[in-house]
Amino acid sequence: MPSVLVTRRLPSSVLSRLQSVADIDVHRGEGPIPPDELRRRIADKAGLVCFSTDAIDRTVLEAALQLKVIATVAVGYDNIDVVLARSRGAIVSNTPDVLTESVADFTWGLILAITRRLAEGERLVRRGGWKGWAFDLMLGSELRGKQLGLIGIGRIGRAVASRAPAFGMRVAYTARGGDVATPAIDVPGEAMSLDRLLITSDVVSLHVPLTPDTRHLIDKRALARMKRSAFLINTARGPVIDEAALAWALQQHLIAGAALDVYEHEPAVHPDLLSLENVLLVPHLASGTTETRSTMAELAIDNVIEVLAGRPPLTPVF
Ligand code: GLV
Repeated sequence: MPSVLVTRRLPSSVLSRLQSVADIDVHRGEGPIPPDELRRRIADKAGLVCFSTDAIDRTVLEAALQLKVIATVAVGYDNIDVVLARSRGAIVSNTPDVLTESVADFTWGLILAITRRLAEGERLVRRGGWKGWAFDLMLGSELRGKQLGLIGIGRIGRAVASRAPAFGMRVAYTARGGDVATPAIDVPGEAMSLDRLLITSDVVSLHVPLTPDTRHLIDKRALARMKRSAFLINTARGPVIDEAALAWALQQHLIAGAALDVYEHEPAVHPDLLSLENVLLVPHLASGTTETRSTMAELAIDNVIEVLAGRPPLTPVF
């Protein structure tokens, strides 16, 4: 039987399906598999089930002598050198679609939480600082009648857009790099350039993959274009924002607030962000429901099973 390396523990019900077609080697430690262990254990594997926290770079791919399939349990695959993998004969698959609704719901959770100061209020109560109801205590910003600016209008961006009417927001969007404002026919909103979107939106939410073009797309210059009353939301990838620039913009009150699920150097968070009240920080949870995580794992396993059986994966990366 071929063997497959799984870099984190997965539910046994998911693994048992894989076990019927392959020998499996599961990294059972807490946290990601250390890179040298990954290089050692991948040498004789035909399949790899990995996660966004594993760097599948040249050193790993060169150590993999028999690899046919890399199935990441994530939609983003910026952690994988896909071109090199392919040239060495390994197909890469991800888990699109199955997490779209979960991430879109979570994005709205962040939008509501930062505009209505939920985390800030919770911190006040927990530290015993609440002195009782007050007419002007921690007033937030209303969403109704405002503009939601979506940077990236793929599956997740569209799912976020589809929820906007429930909150009375109008949608503006821009495609990936931000320079082409190609209207998407099925999105009820206005296509605009990145600059215009930044200047006119009340909430800006990121839904682009991390690529060389989107790294630090939100830098000092972009932040300076945003309204002072605007909020920035990131459930995409940390490095899309220059985190030091964001900390500076929040300190200077150049924007009203930010809600972040992802960071430039996870699990580290820029130290200046930790002491600011106008930023909400959560630990990379956007797809994290029991239902969605198990569907993601099932899909990744199905991709491995398909490739090992000589068939194309269900969801190759491109
Ligand atoms: C998680 O970060 C994913 O890309 O699915």
